[in-house]
Amino acid sequence: MSIHPLPPAREPTGVGRLPVAWWFMLTGGVAAAAIVAGGATILAMTAQVRALNPRPEVAAQLQTLNAALVALLLVVAACGAGLAFIVRFAVLKPVGALTEQVRKVAAGDFDHRLRVDRPAELAELSSHVDAMRGRIVSAWRVAADQAEELRRSNGELEQFAYVASHDLQEPLRKVASFTQMLEQRYGPQLDERARQYIHYAVDGAKRMQLLINDLLDFSRVGRATGEREPADAGGALDAALENLSAAIEDAGAVVTRDPLPVVLADPRRLTQLFQNLVENAVKFRSERPPRVHVGVRRVDDLWEFSCSDNGIGVEPKYAERIFLIFQRLHPRDVYPGTGIGLALCRKIVEFHGGRIWLDGSAGGQGATFRWTLPAAEEGQEPS
Ligand SMILES: Nc1ncnc2c1ncn2[C@@H]1O[C@H](COP(=O)(O)OP(=O)(O)O)[C@@H](O)[C@H]1O
Ligand SMILES: [Mg+2]
Repeated sequence: MSIHPLPPAREPTGVGRLPVAWWFMLTGGVAAAAIVAGGATILAMTAQVRALNPRPEVAAQLQTLNAALVALLLVVAACGAGLAFIVRFAVLKPVGALTEQVRKVAAGDFDHRLRVDRPAELAELSSHVDAMRGRIVSAWRVAADQAEELRRSNGELEQFAYVASHDLQEPLRKVASFTQMLEQRYGPQLDERARQYIHYAVDGAKRMQLLINDLLDFSRVGRATGEREPADAGGALDAALENLSAAIEDAGAVVTRDPLPVVLADPRRLTQLFQNLVENAVKFRSERPPRVHVGVRRVDDLWEFSCSDNGIGVEPKYAERIFLIFQRLHPRDVYPGTGIGLALCRKIVEFHGGRIWLDGSAGGQGATFRWTLPAAEEGQEPS
């Protein structure tokens, strides 16, 4: 569980800035001064009346009035003291205790219970807040457990794909090479049908080798290798076009591009990404000579790339399916391939924190793929 440091409490504003205790002391001080002044005034006035030598009945009345006033002042003072006691022990102290408990929870001790027994209002508030804390914490734990489980099973799956494809290579190589040797050495002694069977077997073994190599490559994305560094996208595209030069020449394709930026990526994977997309753009061509354009535009702190062609295009309903591993829309004898290219592209882009999709809004003929990659910071140069 991640525990963030507690952010500073929000500053209070307006007249309510002062703590309640201060307000209370302020009003208490004024009241005490008023009581003292009132008492002094009463004493002074009584003394003045006495100096006038009042009649005995008046003096007696004055005495009684005096006693009543003093009693009143004492009661008011006692009420003030009582109020101070109540505010201190029934409001301020429990609020302070609750604040302290909430601060502990907010600081990351999510199992700390919130509990205040008095007064009734605060007891209710604290029990509701504590119930909320409990529910949020248990929902969070379930989510965290599930995320952990998902990470683990994903890791296992990748490990499995890696080990399986790696270990299958060797026996497969044996099958392919011995069937080929069979054909070479005993070909003349075999009849036409036997030679055809051998041809099928060699073809199947070769195709499986291709699939396994692709799968191995796929399962390697994001494994130990592959650091993100400032990488020149233009250079990566150059390398991809170099690898594809034969196919591009065969098809008479023209590949154009915007000036490409520096991105944060593993340069080898970046080349692989361009290579798969341009290869598709050239492979899935229509009767027209293939035209491919690699574009780019800046969107916040990302670069959004595009690769558009004038080929056969993809129906929008297949926009998601084509990114699944081994999913193809055409038979192998029409357009060769293993169906892993776009799945690999998606894995590479997502490994770099980006997103890739088929742009359905491009309209017209052909297909446009778009993907995002994090931009390198100002002044970061490819090494
Ligand atoms: N530029 C494109 N134009 C038309 N269809 C495409 C394009 N790129 C990909 N596709 C479709 O998506 C499918 C999956 O592509 P991909 O994973 O590269 O596999 P592969 O190239 O081996 O067939 C392709 O079989 C094809 O049907
Ligand atoms: Mg492909």
